[in-house]
Amino acid sequence: PHWPVAECALLLKLWLVLTVRVVSLGVSGGTASGKTTVCDMIIQQLHDHRVVLVNQDSFYRGLTAEESASAQDYNFDHPDAFDTEQLLECMGQLKRALPVNVPIYDFKNHRRCSERFRKVNASDVIILEGILVFHDQRVRNLMDMKIFVDTDADIRLARRIRRDTVERGRDVSSVLDQYGRFVKPAFDDFVLPSKKYADVIIPRGGDNHVAIDLIVQHIRTKLGMHDLCKVFRNVFVVQSTFQI
Ligand code: ADP
Ligand code: C5P
Repeated sequence: PHWPVAECALLLKLWLVLTVRVVSLGVSGGTASGKTTVCDMIIQQLHDHRVVLVNQDSFYRGLTAEESASAQDYNFDHPDAFDTEQLLECMGQLKRALPVNVPIYDFKNHRRCSERFRKVNASDVIILEGILVFHDQRVRNLMDMKIFVDTDADIRLARRIRRDTVERGRDVSSVLDQYGRFVKPAFDDFVLPSKKYADVIIPRGGDNHVAIDLIVQHIRTKLGMHDLCKVFRNVFVVQSTFQI
């Protein structure tokens, strides 16, 4: 029988290119639950791979001068506080293994550093971390694995007071006021309901070494499969280039 070799080759090539993807992880949880700490521990263990961390915080909309003047009344914990379209665009590029410029956000002034970006290069693993990364279905769909860091609210509040007073230029009274008016209600309305989308729930965050080891093992298995695909793809491309 006559096989349309050229067409078959093209289809196979296309299939191989499409199946070789990066592994993407979403890490969510309440404020100061230990999301960044967990991500850093995963990245440390995957030191032999190219891993990039993207923070949802980078996609906060910058406040106007008027909004800044009454920033204490602004709800930074509502999904509308983020530019999700831009986040989707950046993640889409990274998933296609293309480099992107990620905005840099300034928590002290509630603004983006308009002239500065963080250049993020193509990687084997992308980790997207943030309080609301499981809220939007389109963002959820980008993730191969979803992790929720589950830490008691009192521990999170204590950490938040320490962090925001030391690193984000706030005083204790403003942190407590914001927590009661916005952070806790938004956690109950948006963050906690999104926990049901998680594949893995990590109690105690960065203290849970067993959970982190298991997650790293799973990522390594996925990366191994991708490496195998890459080998097949390369062999096939070489063969078809030289018409072996
Ligand atoms: P998130 O990214 O969820 O906001 P972080 O990982 O940045 O949380 O942690 C918030 C604060 O709590 C940081 O100051 C961090 O050093 C501290 N922290 C995180 N995990 C632990 C832990 N297991 N024990 C003690 N402090 C922690
Ligand atoms: O790092 P973490 O997950 O805690 O960051 C999210 C938190 O940052 C939100 O709970 C929000 O209240 C806070 N935030 C803030 N000021 C901003 C932007 C975000 O306090 N300008």
